[in-house]
Amino acid sequence: MNNIQFTKKYYINRKKTNSVKYQMCKKGDYLPMWIADMDFKCDERVARELSKYIEFGDYGYANIPEDYYKVFINWHKTRNNVTYKQDWIRFSYGAVDAMYQVLYTFSKPNDLIMINTPLYPPFKATIEQTGRKVLSSKMINNNGYFTLDFNDIERKFKTKKVKILMLCSPHNPVGRVYKKGELETLFELCKKYNVLVCSDEVHSDIIMPDQTFIPSLAFKKYHDIIISIVAASKSFSLAVFNHCHIIIPNEKLRNKLIKYQQINHRYSLNAFCCLPTYYNYKYGAQWMDDLNNVVYENYQYFYDNLHQHFEMTNLEGSYLLFLNLGKYNDENSAAKSLEKNCKIIVNPGESFDSQYNNWVRINLATSLANVKKAVNSIKKYYLK
Ligand SMILES: Cc1ncc(COP(=O)(O)O)c(C=O)c1O
Repeated sequence: MNNIQFTKKYYINRKKTNSVKYQMCKKGDYLPMWIADMDFKCDERVARELSKYIEFGDYGYANIPEDYYKVFINWHKTRNNVTYKQDWIRFSYGAVDAMYQVLYTFSKPNDLIMINTPLYPPFKATIEQTGRKVLSSKMINNNGYFTLDFNDIERKFKTKKVKILMLCSPHNPVGRVYKKGELETLFELCKKYNVLVCSDEVHSDIIMPDQTFIPSLAFKKYHDIIISIVAASKSFSLAVFNHCHIIIPNEKLRNKLIKYQQINHRYSLNAFCCLPTYYNYKYGAQWMDDLNNVVYENYQYFYDNLHQHFEMTNLEGSYLLFLNLGKYNDENSAAKSLEKNCKIIVNPGESFDSQYNNWVRINLATSLANVKKAVNSIKKYYLK
């Protein structure tokens, strides 16, 4: 299905719903391109199956579908050539909840937790809110292509006792899909300095055509130091269901998390909220391929029209583009400038790291018509 056909079939007008992304549209004619969810609904079979469940009316205690794990494992094996075992999989109420669980289970108050900035703000927030300490290693920006600073990371590992590295792979907001060599270098350092890795991989289904996503647990050699956070929530826009997986191959680590979940009453799983993940993994492969093409085309349009004037990330994965307004920014925050002058709502760069106030994060998981509208209003105001 091409971009036009996909949009015709799946684009939803969310202006009058309770969508968080569209709340500003009740106040005016804004174009919301911020928060990470999509303007597309899932394959029709998903809604059909969920409707059947709702209409049947049995809302008593329920198990998850018998083949839930099989479907989950098959999706990740087929798409990313990684083999997860059923026993390794634990559940959480969303990816941020998974971060909290990992921090509480595997670190103590005041422990140092490393992140690579700029980064999706809840990484920092969860570390701070759990009483741990943020140790930031800034990424290196080479004309919109961001890389990890291995020298800085090693220096920090060597001189400070870092407990956990909270990795974001693919990276939000810089859109990187890390290469095998980058991940190996990173995991080798973590192993050498006894740092546990928690890899948030919720953007891993949206990968641009020339890229290959490598799950952290594809590296068997590092299984004993890696925990991964995996969900279908970004892939199919299922945020409302709060359903996520924490995957831990190492038995000792896994038992520690199980103990944490038991004593904190986090053991039970919402059997309804797992269904959208299950049905999308079951029926959504073609939809996912088509969606990837839509995001890629949207990105190409945005890039082709604006890259001569603005620095922006080379999108490798996710539908989130990081854009530098630079000298065009006429406010102390580029996001404010875009909102005021172009009526486009984006995430402010400074929320990902304070030095990025000239930058914004733009969500491209919408219709090409919306992307064109955004490009036109940016051109009209800043390049007039
Ligand atoms: C990297 C990353 N992790 C976690 C989340 C939040 O996930 P959840 O809503 O499941 O907590 C997001 C949302 O944008 C994200 O981009």
